[in-house]
Amino acid sequence: MYVTRIRHRVTFGCRSLLEPHSNTSMKTKYLPLASALLLAASAVTQSVTAQPGFPLYNEPYRPQYHFSPAMHFMNDPNGLVFFKGLYHLYYQYNPLELVAGHQSWGHATSPDLIHWTNLPIAIPEMPTGQIFTGSAVVDSNNTSGFFGHVPGGGLVAIYTLNQPAKEVQNVAYSLDDGTSYIEYKGNPVLDLQNPNFRDPKVFWYAPGNRWIMAVALPRDHQVLFYGSTDLKNWSFLSAFGPAGYEGFQYECPNLFQVPVQGSGETKWVLVVAINPGAPQGGSMNEYFIGNFDGTAFTPDDGVARLMDFGKDFYAVQTYNNVPNGAAIAVGWMSNWQYTQLVPTFPWRGVFTVPRVLSLRQNPTQTGAFLVQTPISLASLRDKTLFNGSTMVNPGTPLTISSQGNSSFEFRTTLVGGDAGRLDINILNAAGEEVTVGVDWDNNGQVYVQRGNTTGFSNRYFTNDFSTQESNLDNSIELHVLVDRSVLEVFVDDGIQVCTTSFFMAKGPPTEMQWQATNSPVLVQSLEAYTLKSIWR
Ligand code: FRU
Repeated sequence: MYVTRIRHRVTFGCRSLLEPHSNTSMKTKYLPLASALLLAASAVTQSVTAQPGFPLYNEPYRPQYHFSPAMHFMNDPNGLVFFKGLYHLYYQYNPLELVAGHQSWGHATSPDLIHWTNLPIAIPEMPTGQIFTGSAVVDSNNTSGFFGHVPGGGLVAIYTLNQPAKEVQNVAYSLDDGTSYIEYKGNPVLDLQNPNFRDPKVFWYAPGNRWIMAVALPRDHQVLFYGSTDLKNWSFLSAFGPAGYEGFQYECPNLFQVPVQGSGETKWVLVVAINPGAPQGGSMNEYFIGNFDGTAFTPDDGVARLMDFGKDFYAVQTYNNVPNGAAIAVGWMSNWQYTQLVPTFPWRGVFTVPRVLSLRQNPTQTGAFLVQTPISLASLRDKTLFNGSTMVNPGTPLTISSQGNSSFEFRTTLVGGDAGRLDINILNAAGEEVTVGVDWDNNGQVYVQRGNTTGFSNRYFTNDFSTQESNLDNSIELHVLVDRSVLEVFVDDGIQVCTTSFFMAKGPPTEMQWQATNSPVLVQSLEAYTLKSIWR
């Protein structure tokens, strides 16, 4: 983590005029003033403008169906909540620079979790500190008293105020359906006089008729649980940890319920973000499966499981108030080891496609595992690149052109021989490539390689990721999302996931070559589609 000096001040509770890239009508209204403020700000910070020759949202590395802010730096998803027909996506945002700092809550909404509308900053940095990660809830019964005259209540944000000497938990409420927030006069609602105490995740726990907060004591490697009936007064309930991978610190805890596939039951999952100190290096999310009784989380076993075998999946948060109760998660596709250096411009930071979470008992291993299923992108499908089954023989690659598109998805079930291998090379015209591979030798490995790319070099931007995944019938199911500079690989319905950024300097990928080694590979029910841009 970093500590930054506060270099600009805006009035809390007012819509920030520094946000330069709303695609609503606010844009035209505020743009001249926003530009002037940005110009003034650039005297003390680096100046960020659109990339010459490229319209916003069509720069070479710009994902086309993943969310990213138009400009400047984004990290954790915050305040994920469904309210009045819209999914709100708040996020850690520096509205002035391409590195972390001036942390504020950026904002976008979506009716379908696919198409996003950028909105003005919802909670700007305060004179007293930066607005760090937190969550948002719908206070429909006005438990807080903030919504006396508003039928149906409204949104309350609970976040960390990061100050030079300490981190405290604050609340703020919105009287305009989440566009802007008013600070609660009694803040902070939790203050341990501790410089490392952050990232509250709050949700309504119906059986106990109260709100529950999970919040990190990062350097103690603990998650603390608090309870409240009004979101203002919080009492300590219990502590979890140290447990699992401790790393340097715990961040962004998240406690939620998921269905156990095929059983009609639910289980509780506690996710803890570690940074740095992931086995792969830097940042990662680990999780524990167990029970929450309204006071304490008790894991079923001592096992810390990892949500991803890549390096670009961090600070995952689940949505509150989803109509059917589903656990829908969004993660940040980067790693603190190099996120402030990656070559994207004029923005840094991308979020995963939202994923629906469930638990599955794994037949080949002990215990249950989280299954991550990306929401369907069928509405974005444009050209069908392949639809059918085929055999790929050694020496005769299957070539699939994406017809000039660098945003596509494919799904298939592969069956290979015991000593066989399949490399799916996803490449550009200059031969830069990322590879998704299955190695039936070595007890079944799935791997992702991003080393054959020239856009970014950094000692921590490591190239190769793999996991063990074997099924008795030698079949492996793959669902792969490719989007110019990001890749999401879901193995066996998402029981294993690799989330990866990659940077091809000579143009984004537009072709796939499927190469078998040692023995033929049956490619069953391959469906491959180009995906339309959500930005144009
Ligand atoms: C995680 C994190 C949080 C913190 C936020 C600051 O990436 O370090 O612990 O609240 O980012 O931007």
